[in-house]
Amino acid sequence: MSLLVATPNPIAETKQRLEDRTARIGIIGLGYVGLPLALLFAEERFPVTGFDIDAAKVEALNGGGSYIVRIAAEEIRAAQRRGFLATSDYSQIAAMDVVLICVPTPLNDYHEPDLSYVTETAKSIAPWLREGQLVVLESTTYPGTTEEVLVPLLEAGSSLRAAREAADRGFYVAFSPEREDPGNDTVARRDIPKVIGGVGPVALELACAVYGAIFKRTVPVSSPAAAEMTKLLENIYRCVNIALVNELKQLCQRMEIDLFEVIDAAKTKPFGFQAFYPGPGLGGHCIPIDPFYLSWKAKQFDFRTRFIELAGEVNIGMPYYVIDRTIAALNDRRKPLNGSKILVLGLAYKRDIDDLRESPSLTIIELLRERGASVAYHDPYFATVGRGRHYDLNMVCATLEDLDKYDAVMIVTDHTSYDYAKIVGESRLVIDTRNATKGIVADNIVRC
Ligand SMILES: NC(=O)c1ccc[n+]([C@@H]2O[C@H](COP(=O)([O-])OP(=O)(O)OC[C@H]3O[C@@H](n4cnc5c(N)ncnc54)[C@H](O)[C@@H]3O)[C@@H](O)[C@H]2O)c1
Repeated sequence: MSLLVATPNPIAETKQRLEDRTARIGIIGLGYVGLPLALLFAEERFPVTGFDIDAAKVEALNGGGSYIVRIAAEEIRAAQRRGFLATSDYSQIAAMDVVLICVPTPLNDYHEPDLSYVTETAKSIAPWLREGQLVVLESTTYPGTTEEVLVPLLEAGSSLRAAREAADRGFYVAFSPEREDPGNDTVARRDIPKVIGGVGPVALELACAVYGAIFKRTVPVSSPAAAEMTKLLENIYRCVNIALVNELKQLCQRMEIDLFEVIDAAKTKPFGFQAFYPGPGLGGHCIPIDPFYLSWKAKQFDFRTRFIELAGEVNIGMPYYVIDRTIAALNDRRKPLNGSKILVLGLAYKRDIDDLRESPSLTIIELLRERGASVAYHDPYFATVGRGRHYDLNMVCATLEDLDKYDAVMIVTDHTSYDYAKIVGESRLVIDTRNATKGIVADNIVRC
């Protein structure tokens, strides 16, 4: 029996369907978050349908291919054998028992939340909602989004209401943040506890049952806003601590102290210290963006989030610091940056991944070009780089041959495939923003 039929006990029915693996799972947004989640449900033998407005992604997946480097095509094909398929047809939402929303939540040009992907998704699914269905938002966002934005749009576009109590009839809504750490293979996805806040107790119980089927531990909290805030706290904690070491890196450079050595020593303390590392600036879809979702929301409460703003200021300044250090190093060699040839190593925002969203490499390349440098890049994950939301580079990956033709080689992303000793040996000047050359002694390295 489907949840389409009004049922006096949706929890019992959904639990049964979860147990016998007949609950149909719909995942909206098949990107870095949604696709692995879809595969996880498929691995657990659930029938999964992925929804995406990007026709190229839908076509690639239905053809048994992958567009994310760390997801092998074979994983997609294995999921297909268990019934996974992708579509852009929202009418299929009606057949789902559970709908998980994993669409982007970027900032607009004014550094304010851009919820358009969430609101468009809500409008698209609303006409197909039916009683007993569970809708969960996974996209990172400010506290209040689920109840103030998502639920009203779902209710406006459907003839149903969000059910808040056991006696209510309608669809159920919850928020559960994604805690994916791309490139981190030390923790299996199912071992990462899943925080969940429901719009009412029934939605919470349903969502815990759904996620409990694939995650080892669920962490129920009192409301969607508490779950939304939990995700932001985690990311703001990282953002602020990274800003702290980024600032200290600049002080340590003046004091001629190696901050990386200091961090390694400090982290031997068995309590009360967690190591964060400085770098050329923040990257990725989360840490540079999410804190500003909270700053924006805080204004509604006449409150300024000063830690977030200060951390943002320090972190946003890091690519400029790297440029200043490069100019100084070239100056020591009687070279102006204007007219110099620079090779930037690594485009991805962090090592060993194929994601360049908000990458500091993009900012650094643009700053170098603006200052008259002739810039090339190398990254094993990107054969070309074209145009994105915040950049327009149109470059082709250079080779790692003849490194001495460059006035400086800049390590911006410390991919593990690079042979750093060889790079230092063959380059005239190496600007190392990641401590990738740790242990290599040479007078052509400038660590910054
Ligand atoms: N990438 C990460 O490591 C990470 C980690 C934790 C949380 N998050 C959060 O998860 C959310 C998704 O991030 P992501 O990295 O997977 O983004 P992504 O850009 O990789 O994927 C999003 C997908 O959603 C699709 N999409 C957009 N609008 C749609 C619509 N109306 N209907 C159907 N599909 C639509 C896009 O085509 C794209 O394929 C964001 O809120 C992000 O902040 C991301």
